[in-house]
Amino acid sequence: MAFTLTRYPIIQAPMAGGATTPELVAAVSNAGGLGSLAGVLLPPDQLAEEIRRIRARTARPFNVNLFVLKPVQATPEDLRAAMGLLEPIRAELGLFQANVPSKFSQDFAAQLEVLMEEKPPVVSFHFDVLSAQVVERLQQAGCKVIGTATNVAEAIAWEQVGADYVCAQGAEAGGHRGTFIGPFEHAMTGTLALLPQVVDAVKIPVIAAGGIMDGRGIAAALLLGAVAVQMGTAFLTCPESGIHPLYKQALLQAKGDPTVVTRSFSGRPARGLRNTFIERMQPYEAQVPPYPIQNALTAEIRQAAAKAGRIEYMSLWAGQAASLCRSLPAAELIKTLVEETQQSLQQVWGSQVWPA
Ligand SMILES: Cc1cc2nc3c(=O)[nH]c(=O)nc-3n(C[C@H](O)[C@H](O)[C@H](O)COP(=O)(O)O)c2cc1C
Repeated sequence: MAFTLTRYPIIQAPMAGGATTPELVAAVSNAGGLGSLAGVLLPPDQLAEEIRRIRARTARPFNVNLFVLKPVQATPEDLRAAMGLLEPIRAELGLFQANVPSKFSQDFAAQLEVLMEEKPPVVSFHFDVLSAQVVERLQQAGCKVIGTATNVAEAIAWEQVGADYVCAQGAEAGGHRGTFIGPFEHAMTGTLALLPQVVDAVKIPVIAAGGIMDGRGIAAALLLGAVAVQMGTAFLTCPESGIHPLYKQALLQAKGDPTVVTRSFSGRPARGLRNTFIERMQPYEAQVPPYPIQNALTAEIRQAAAKAGRIEYMSLWAGQAASLCRSLPAAELIKTLVEETQQSLQQVWGSQVWPA
C-alpha cells in the first residue's frame, strides 16, 4: 500500500505548545512531506486564521490536528486542592495571585466546525475516537481522516468509524499518550512491537509514530508495514519550530534517554524531558486532576517559566530518541531523511542478508 497524500511518506507531527508554526507546516509540505498544525489550544477564530496562514504559504496538502475532548467539570474543592499542590512552585515564580481559569479547554465542537468550513486536506485526532457520523462529515468536506491508536483495540475502533488512516503511537513517542481504551500502562508498547500488530489487525493504512528520528527509523517502519511515519521530536529543533530557545538547546544537548512519562503538567500521561517540575510533582502524580483541568491550572506556571527562562519549570515534551535531534531547516531535514531512507533500504535489499 502506498502513501498517496504527499511525495514522501513523512509526516511532521502536530505538536501543541507552539512548535508547529505555519512556517514549519508549510516548509514541510513544500518539501514533499506532510506538515501538521496542532490546533488543540487555539480558539476557533485563531485556528481558522492559522489554517489561512498555512494556505498562504503552500499549495500542497497539510494536516490539522485536534484532541477529541468532552466537556469536564471540577468542584471548587477539587480545584483548591489541585492549586494547593502547585503553590510552592507558583511562589517561586512570583505567581502569588492564583487565577483559576474560567474554562479548561477550547470548545472542541466549535473547533470541529472550523475544520468543516476550512476543509484542510488532512485532519488528525488524538485522545479518543470520533463517531462514524463526524468522520463521514469530515470526509464529505474533502478531508482525509487520521486517528491515533496506542493499541490494537484503538486501531480497530478507528477503522470501524471509517478513518482513512490510523497512526500507531509507540511508547517512545514524545508528547501525550493517545490511549483511550484501557489503562495507559497497558498501552506502553514500543513502536517496533506495536506497528506490525496494528498492521495485521486493520485493513486501513497505518502510520508509525514514536522514536523515529532519521532514515534508519523510517526504513524500519516501512519494512514493518507502515505506509508513512509521523515524526515529532525530530522537527522540534528546526529553525521554523516555535519552541523556546532553551528547550531547543536542551534537545540538542540531550544524551541517552532523558525523558519520562508524567501526568503532572497536564493530568494525562505525556513524555517529556525530566526536569525540576516533574521531580517536585512526582509524589502527587496520582492526585492531580485529569486533562484538561491540570493543563489549564499549570498554564500560568509554564508561561511564567518560559518568560523568565526557567527551563526547570517548562514542559519539554520529547520522545525517547531526542538525543538524535539535529538543527536543520525543515526542507533540508526532509531531503536528508529521504536520502537516508533510500540508503538504509538499499543496504537491506542490496546486500545478501542470509547465507545462500
Ligand atoms: C512537543 C510535542 C507535542 C505534541 N503534541 C501533539 C498534538 O498536539 N497532537 C498530536 O496528535 N500529537 C502530539 N504529539 C505526539 C506526536 O503526534 C507523535 O506521536 C510523536 O511526536 C512521535 O514520537 P517522536 O516525538 O519520538 O517522533 C506531540 C509530540 C511532541 C514531541
